[in-house]
Amino acid sequence: MVDERKGALSFRNIHKEFIDNDGNKFVALDNFSMDIQPGSFVSLIGPSGCGKSTLLRMIAGLDTPTNGEILLDDEKIDGTNHERGLVFQQANLFPWLNVRENVATGLVARKVYKENKDEVDKYIKLVGLSGFEKSYPHQLSGGMAQRVSLVRVLVNKPKVLLLDEPLGALDAFTRMNMQDEILKIWREQKVTVILVTHDVDEAVYMSDTIVILSSRPGRIQEVIKLRQNRTRSRNYPDFVDLRTRILEKLNFASTEDTAGYYI
Ligand SMILES: Nc1ncnc2c1ncn2[C@@H]1O[C@H](COP(=O)(O)OP(=O)(O)OP(=O)(O)O)[C@@H](O)[C@H]1O
Ligand SMILES: [Mg+2]
Repeated sequence: MVDERKGALSFRNIHKEFIDNDGNKFVALDNFSMDIQPGSFVSLIGPSGCGKSTLLRMIAGLDTPTNGEILLDDEKIDGTNHERGLVFQQANLFPWLNVRENVATGLVARKVYKENKDEVDKYIKLVGLSGFEKSYPHQLSGGMAQRVSLVRVLVNKPKVLLLDEPLGALDAFTRMNMQDEILKIWREQKVTVILVTHDVDEAVYMSDTIVILSSRPGRIQEVIKLRQNRTRSRNYPDFVDLRTRILEKLNFASTEDTAGYYI
């Protein structure tokens, strides 16, 4: 089957303001411009509060930039759409639906379930959950629930997969397994992935581009391009150098702002 997905993202001077509790405007994200090629794996890393989730929410169409625009395959993003799927740190499954029903929710809502029935099973299998179709969320481990939340998005064949610290709540072993599963899915589906993570090793292991953001207001501090098509290895020869470089950058960002230490 021909998959016509693309998934080129273009950020043009994104500026986002919010109103704080005292009624004052503040800038959450400033002057964010970059182009992301279809099928890239981009990680966003930066201090807490620098606007990472805000950026993902704007790509998902759940929020809008105050100024600037985000384009997906040359079209301005306007509202939510299944072509941009967001996965959060918590699985947020519907407790009254079983695994299969949770995965199918988007298809049912779009009234395309019937023709995609087999896809639901295919995706459940892809993340190793065959046999658990009838299980309810309370019967699943954290890692299993997070797999369900991932395939619930993937089954809609998004062009862009937005991952907001999706592995943050998992134990180290489950986390490494899930990292490999996400990489496998990324390769097979040719989906553009934007991953927000606080885990520098995760960013180095998984991404082909790492975007380091400065503390509030979030601005691009550095874009690190990793060698494409490298063999992903946790012993990647440049791993330690790269990790040190990123950590240094993050600490530089935080010298005048103690909150910045909490990456
Ligand atoms: N709807 C909102 N109204 C007001 N302020 C908001 C809103 N959403 C986010 N903010 C503020 O914007 C800033 C950026 O928030 P955001 O959640 O994007 O940060 P983040 O980089 O994802 O942080 P973390 O790493 O802790 O998840 C924060 O100061 C936050 O308080
Ligand atoms: Mg966040």
